Amino acid sequence: MDAFIIDGPTTLHGDVAIAGAKNAALPLMAAALLGNGESVITNVPDLADTRFFLKLLEELGMAGEFSNNTLRLDPTVRELETTAPYDIVRKMRASIYVLGPLLAARGESRVSKPGGCAWGPRPVDLHMAGMMALGAEVEEDHGYIVARCPGGLKGGRFRFEPVSVGATCNVLMGAVLARGETLLENCAREPEVVQLGEALIGAGAHIEGLGTQTLQIQGVDSLSPLKCAVIPDRIEAGTFLAAVAVAGGRVRLAGCRQDHLEPIIGVLRDLGCVISEEGDFLVVERTGQLQPVKVETQPFPGFPTDMQAQVMAAAALADGVSFITDTIYPDRFTHVAELERLGARIELKNGTATIMGVSELQGAPVMATDLRASAALVLAGIAAQGRTTVRRVYHIDRGYERIEARLAALGARIERVKDS
Ligand code: UD1
Repeated sequence: MDAFIIDGPTTLHGDVAIAGAKNAALPLMAAALLGNGESVITNVPDLADTRFFLKLLEELGMAGEFSNNTLRLDPTVRELETTAPYDIVRKMRASIYVLGPLLAARGESRVSKPGGCAWGPRPVDLHMAGMMALGAEVEEDHGYIVARCPGGLKGGRFRFEPVSVGATCNVLMGAVLARGETLLENCAREPEVVQLGEALIGAGAHIEGLGTQTLQIQGVDSLSPLKCAVIPDRIEAGTFLAAVAVAGGRVRLAGCRQDHLEPIIGVLRDLGCVISEEGDFLVVERTGQLQPVKVETQPFPGFPTDMQAQVMAAAALADGVSFITDTIYPDRFTHVAELERLGARIELKNGTATIMGVSELQGAPVMATDLRASAALVLAGIAAQGRTTVRRVYHIDRGYERIEARLAALGARIERVKDS
């Protein structure tokens, strides 16, 4: 297992290029199961998660080739398997994304139930109920979700409660090949959902309402292969913005979509960062004292749950008391105890973290517990006095391409070492 050794404090300066979005790439990869030939997806981030999802698709029988961030996927070279086994799904929850496409393309899918994650339960009831609304028979069998629709899926009506990114994508992938019209209500509006819809439309699907809460889908008999470029990763961009908030300095981000970042930029400005545009770059600068913030996570266009840990690392150094509430995952606070090891003062009660800003953090050994929590620890380590060791960085490798090299290029003293 690898660890990061970080010697702080350093400020960050320079340019960084933002990679394609992991959370957009994964549903696009699943959607390639629906095409009648070879899909080509470019700007795919080279991550543990995208590699792993490719492995799942290959095990299902897809032909896959991944090089230079371009992914070619063809489901037509051999008969597809319809089972996503426990050993794969338990390592990667997003495997649930094959449920809808396999059902639509093969009339059957069997996907191991993903179970919870590091910070608590992550139900998939909406994925199942959405398939039922499209006429599938869905049952649970020894830890597997088994879905069947021998005569094909039929258009139907379904309302997501609560709003779910994953379930919206999954049911959408089923509905595009269902007979007749489907009406989906209270849909997720995240840019990753919009990108999936646009890619499906490019392949011949009929979808109206993308980017709104209501999607209307007219099923088609078949889809062409997907041709698309993955949108920039707004969470990775947000993490670099937060890195400058925590550590101070001035960094220019290349290749990000500011319209996807508005909710994050608002909070970063409240923290005391100056954010501006310079040609194609988004520039973040923080020279003054960090200010306290009040943040509540919400579905897009609200502030993303995937950014609250990184913002908490900045709030730990603010001049006053900050409040961070996660309404999407009220238990997603495993980073709190680790940030406290670095000297942060945080109280956790009823899904709200109250952060009493301190004047400095101190380096210490800490443990990464999940992807975004790990990012927060790395950022805190860059700003902390002395040495921080972040263990179990495989979590961070799931979602960031060589983050240590890119932070080092900005001036952080960070290196990857082997840790037993
Ligand atoms: C996706 C992202 C994840 C992000 C999350 C919320 C991917 C691969 N992952 O996860 O990084 O943190 O969106 O923006 O894109 N829910 C149910 N029943 C369901 C499904 C979800 O009750 O069947 C609830 C969840 O418990 C949660 C809320 O819906 O409270 C939102 O979760 P959801 O949007 O589905 O998250 P994911 O798609 O799993």
